Amino acid sequence: MIVQSKRDIQGILEAGKVAAEIMHKMADRLRPGISTGQLDKIGEEMMIRHGAKSAPMLLYSFPGATCISVLPEVAHGIPGSRQIQAGDLVNIDVSIELHGYFADTGMSIAVEIEDEKVHELCRICLEAREAAIAAAKPGGKVNRIGNAVEQVAKSYDLTVIKNLCGHGLGRSLHEAPENILNYYSRQERNRLSQGQVIALEPFVSEGPDMVTNCGYNEWALVVPEGFRVAQFEHTIIVLEDGNLVATEW
Ligand code: CO
Ligand code: CO
Repeated sequence: MIVQSKRDIQGILEAGKVAAEIMHKMADRLRPGISTGQLDKIGEEMMIRHGAKSAPMLLYSFPGATCISVLPEVAHGIPGSRQIQAGDLVNIDVSIELHGYFADTGMSIAVEIEDEKVHELCRICLEAREAAIAAAKPGGKVNRIGNAVEQVAKSYDLTVIKNLCGHGLGRSLHEAPENILNYYSRQERNRLSQGQVIALEPFVSEGPDMVTNCGYNEWALVVPEGFRVAQFEHTIIVLEDGNLVATEW
């Protein structure tokens, strides 16, 4: 959506704040022994308390309030009986509807991982997200975002996942621009508008540049064993005098 009023801005910021709070509270509870289903329940209860709804459940009948992906799952993992173990790289993605407005945020968390490379991967992904936010300008081309993300990944000899991307949102979870790629595409001609609401979510990878369906359900997307991928996502409002990050915590 393109925000038209102070009320619209407020609506996105409020939804963003709730989504961020839920995600960070879930992240605080993430430790070996907890199941992804228990973690999801924490998120679901917080949504109910705030009068929010799970966007993936509402719009796509996703079988969970949040997406919890344990590597080699990278996105759209279904919460369930799986117990978190030391050494897991976990992605929590929370998208909600609150009073008719949508926000979407995600983060990767290394659970008792000593390998410094994994922490480095997460830091680089955060750097890529910052670069994406800085590249999003009213009147600017959408492909500047992908270019910024790709340049950060490349500078560390890492890759990006090409078939997962950011998106417009606001009055629904997925709106125009539909595919905000995490790499530069010359074919992309769209430009961002003043007040445009977008979710930026770089996926930075140790090698694979595509995810595939996991084969055991219709949702989870995976990479080959042995490779790590991190994702961090913010919902922002693109504005002339500086972008607003709705899902800051
Ligand atoms: Co998300
Ligand atoms: Co998203």
